[in-house]
Amino acid sequence: MIREKVRSGIEGLDELIEGGFPKGRTVLVAGETGTGKTTFSIQYLYNGAVCYGENGVFVTIDERHEFRVEDAASIGWDLEALIDENKLLMVEITPLFSTVKGIDAKKIVENIAMYVKEVNATRLVLDPVAPLITPGEEPIDPLSMQAYVRNYLRKLFFSLTELGVTTVATSEIPTGTSKLSRYGIEEFLASGIIVLRLRRDEGRFHREIYIRKMRGVNHSMDVYSFIIEHGRGIVISI
Ligand SMILES: Nc1ncnc2c1ncn2[C@@H]1O[C@H](COP(=O)(O)OP(=O)(O)OP(=O)(O)O)[C@@H](O)[C@H]1O
Ligand SMILES: [Mg+2]
Repeated sequence: MIREKVRSGIEGLDELIEGGFPKGRTVLVAGETGTGKTTFSIQYLYNGAVCYGENGVFVTIDERHEFRVEDAASIGWDLEALIDENKLLMVEITPLFSTVKGIDAKKIVENIAMYVKEVNATRLVLDPVAPLITPGEEPIDPLSMQAYVRNYLRKLFFSLTELGVTTVATSEIPTGTSKLSRYGIEEFLASGIIVLRLRRDEGRFHREIYIRKMRGVNHSMDVYSFIIEHGRGIVISI
């Protein structure tokens, strides 16, 4: 069976993962702060719309979209044009959920589904994914927390597949740790994990990327350097 792939839009990446992300799955892009997670996410949606005619929805919590639009413009990506043409939707979901104690997966998915239909999207970004899992203000013991997060994410990722979108979810690695995500569960439920990192070498930092896992894909196991370049965004050197 030939599995359908979704072109990542990241220069140099598709060759490493047999043509693109497995369609309908969720890929986690994990990295410490400033490693390029948002750039990766925007590039996935921007090139998706511009190069492949696939519309996208960008979901974030608590971040102002004006800044994302400005940051993207610094790379040369005109997100406003895509928004005006109904090829891209940028949504902040905090106002909808901040009053609710705990956020329930069904509500989130219903909202995302509405946005996805609005622009006929096949690409979705959750940047970052962890705040979507907030269990509310009640204290919760670690074991119940694990169960809660696992249950929540399973429902969320399953519903996204049903929606027909291929999702890039970003995960913030706490600086200086060897974790891949906030709860340590996100990585088990995602179909793929791509890690972005900074390596210090002789007084300067270099950007690196590797594929930590991609289910059902005979992917590269190498670590590659990449740059963020004006006009192109993330460019992996192979
Ligand atoms: N126009 C640009 N040209 C080249 N490099 C850029 C440009 N804009 C941003 N960068 C680099 O990208 C980095 C930010 O990347 P990005 O916001 O994608 O990281 P992130 O992993 O999402 O960070 P955060 O933890 O803040 O969410 C900047 O710190 C800068 O080094
Ligand atoms: Mg970011």
